Amino acid sequence: MKSMPWWKEAVIYQIYPRSFYDSNGDGEGDLQGITSRLEYVKSLGVDAIWLSPFYTSPNKDGGYDVANPRDVDPRFGDLSDAKALIKRAHDLNLRVIADIVPNHFSDQHEWFQSALQSQPGSAERNRFHFYDAKADGTPPNNWISLFGGPSWTQVADGQYYLHLFDSSQPDLNWENADVNADFEETLRFWLDLGVDGFRIDVAHGLVKEEIGKDHPDPTGLSNALRLDVDMDTALRNSLLESVPYFDRQGVHEIYRRWRKIFDSYGDREVMAVAEAWVHPPINATRYVRSDELHQVFNFDLLTAPFESAFLYDVISRSIELNATVNALPTWALSNHDSPRVASRIGDHQSRALALFVFALPGSAYIFAGQELGLPDGELENSDRQDPSFIRSNGEIKGRDGARVPLPWSGDVPPFGFSTGKPWLPMQQSWSAFTVEIEKSDPSSVLNLYTAALALRAQHLTGAGVIAWLESPSHGAMREGLLAFRRGSITVYMNLSGQDYAVEVEGQTIITSSGDFTASHIVRVVPACSTMWILN
Ligand code: NOJ
Repeated sequence: MKSMPWWKEAVIYQIYPRSFYDSNGDGEGDLQGITSRLEYVKSLGVDAIWLSPFYTSPNKDGGYDVANPRDVDPRFGDLSDAKALIKRAHDLNLRVIADIVPNHFSDQHEWFQSALQSQPGSAERNRFHFYDAKADGTPPNNWISLFGGPSWTQVADGQYYLHLFDSSQPDLNWENADVNADFEETLRFWLDLGVDGFRIDVAHGLVKEEIGKDHPDPTGLSNALRLDVDMDTALRNSLLESVPYFDRQGVHEIYRRWRKIFDSYGDREVMAVAEAWVHPPINATRYVRSDELHQVFNFDLLTAPFESAFLYDVISRSIELNATVNALPTWALSNHDSPRVASRIGDHQSRALALFVFALPGSAYIFAGQELGLPDGELENSDRQDPSFIRSNGEIKGRDGARVPLPWSGDVPPFGFSTGKPWLPMQQSWSAFTVEIEKSDPSSVLNLYTAALALRAQHLTGAGVIAWLESPSHGAMREGLLAFRRGSITVYMNLSGQDYAVEVEGQTIITSSGDFTASHIVRVVPACSTMWILN
């Protein structure tokens, strides 16, 4: 029997290169820095790393504004550093996933520069979305950028170009053959250099429809797309039902073509994971049909309250929906675009949720620093660099808090991250979160993650489906108690403020609180904690 592909239930560690480890003292992380710390990454027990972009970029959007997708930005090193990183990772049996950004380029990309020098209607302009102004001189339509402000910017001859994100990120026209060919070349370029897969940025955004039309409620739509805006669910759902620039059928044709490229690498088992914010949730499964991509991010847990009924709903729904296309879900509690989970739901809660999630079927993504229980950095507005902060005139605080460099060692900033001044300030209280200090503390989040991932590999990887034991629809649920059985493990998560006694045979092998009664059958799941029992 063929064994399971490596990515099916992989644990994938996301590295934001600028914030991981600085090898040359310029205050920014770099590829050599990552390579020098891969042994640490390996010691966590993960299977792969996903590197956020490190390509040539003016860095207006943290490198998601790519000026040359087939080269390394000097701030991170050069191509030989990328090769050395991949080799070291492979020597340690870690796979490497690169980020690919196909929705837009940077305005510094040579294509955009030559589009600016070319006439309206030229082949150079056709690689992007250049349109004439309306008769009154206003933009071709009323779409609002996801970073705030209009999604059109006017150039000297009066035409406008479309940018769903920052004005420095012109959207590419995927109906143009050059665009298709160039991305296929980029995929092959990195695969030939040795990467094992891709995380596809804004995977749902490549194809646009109705560019010639105004949207009936652009402000409502833009609020509906923002996670930090509260909105009536029915209203949000109706606005998200059809977004003219997201989740159009045409994107799937692109991924079918890409899948053929991935499969042409045969035994390498190349994988791709889609960043696709789509609605309704069933639509996400289209990205992981058997002739498309391998995984699609499930963003539910990035925003979910620590609340049992809610978590039960989103977790069981994700498992069920993925099963319809024979795929497994993905789980992420933090990433470079969201508040860190420890800040969002609290210290004990985030430990409990991580231990619960590590037992679920599918792939678990860990954002570097999450394994330290790191909170968001506390920043002054003057420190902020996120284009969404700048474009919204400070209304959107932006994502810098999750991107503050990692604390490695010592008692004072920059905690071994750099010998220079870190690009975002690190706070003194992070002396309690360094890798060094957590390694020596048996009850640290670092030791919890390391132990949990080892037990996951031993007992749970490939263990199949879960059977709920306690949930709103299974068993007599006590307020705030969720439980399931998977393979030989029973998992309890007590989300309430009170301890609960549970009756189950077996040995407690890990708890998020570090605390359990040793009784063999009746045991106590402390308030706000998760427990794994080996039956
Ligand atoms: C999603 C990325 O994760 C985010 O960081 C970026 O700003 C946008 N896509 C635009 O590329």
